[in-house]
Amino acid sequence: MNTRFVSMAGMLGLLLVAPLVTGGVAAGADAPYLPGITSNDLNPEGCVSCHKGDTSLKNKLAELKHRNVDSKVNVIPGDCGSCHTEDEGLDTMSQIAHSMHYAAGSKSEFVTKHQGSCLHCHQLSTGDGAVTVKSGNKNW
Ligand code: HEC
Ligand code: HEC
Ligand code: HEC
Repeated sequence: MNTRFVSMAGMLGLLLVAPLVTGGVAAGADAPYLPGITSNDLNPEGCVSCHKGDTSLKNKLAELKHRNVDSKVNVIPGDCGSCHTEDEGLDTMSQIAHSMHYAAGSKSEFVTKHQGSCLHCHQLSTGDGAVTVKSGNKNW
């Protein structure tokens, strides 16, 4: 997707790991978990990288008795935001994404299973420092 970003992240990984290895310390043992920066990014497309198959957002929303939005969304989470605005009197995607994943604090499954990283959904460009929200196409 963003090759410049990926290759830069790879370089950074080498720079960080090399001194640890030569210093005789287990590589990466103390490295903070920063997907895309200190490790491979397992979820480069954010929501849809993680929510797939049984845990697709289609299924998750059906469990929540959400109205069917199949015809209204193609790009996730951008298109969800067409309805989820304050003007519509609905929770914004920011509120939804943050509350759904951190509501139970340290006991949230997102935290216990995925280490709760902001960088599962956000991407940080080490070049210009811009932070964006990852995006992907509907996967159902
Ligand atoms: C790294 C994995 C991961 C990413 C990325 C992720 N989620 Fe989740 N999501 C989870 C986990 C884990 C849960 C809680 C357990 C469950 O319901 O599967 C969850 C729960 C949810 C729920 C609530 C389901 C319920 O039944 O209560 C919704 C809605 C949701 N996510 C939407 C999103 C949206 C929208 C995005 C992108 C902005 C996103 N998720 C990104 C892992 C992820
Ligand atoms: C056509 C408009 C529309 C679209 C598009 C839409 N939603 Fe919603 N959503 C709503 C409405 C309206 C509610 C309030 C409950 C209700 O009336 O069904 C809601 C409620 C929710 C809730 C319940 C929790 C809360 O804070 O309100 C979640 C979670 C949610 N939406 C996630 C999503 C996700 C993820 C997408 C994109 C895949 C999405 N929505 C797309 C209209 C929409
Ligand atoms: C599950 C996905 C997800 C996770 C995890 C997540 N965010 Fe977000 N974040 C979003 C989405 C979606 C938006 C809304 C983007 C939009 O409106 O276009 C957002 C918006 C934001 C904004 C913009 C202000 C606002 O409220 O609209 C800030 C700041 C932010 N996030 C910080 C964080 C921080 C800090 C963390 C980690 C502690 C984090 N986010 C974790 C999905 C996530």
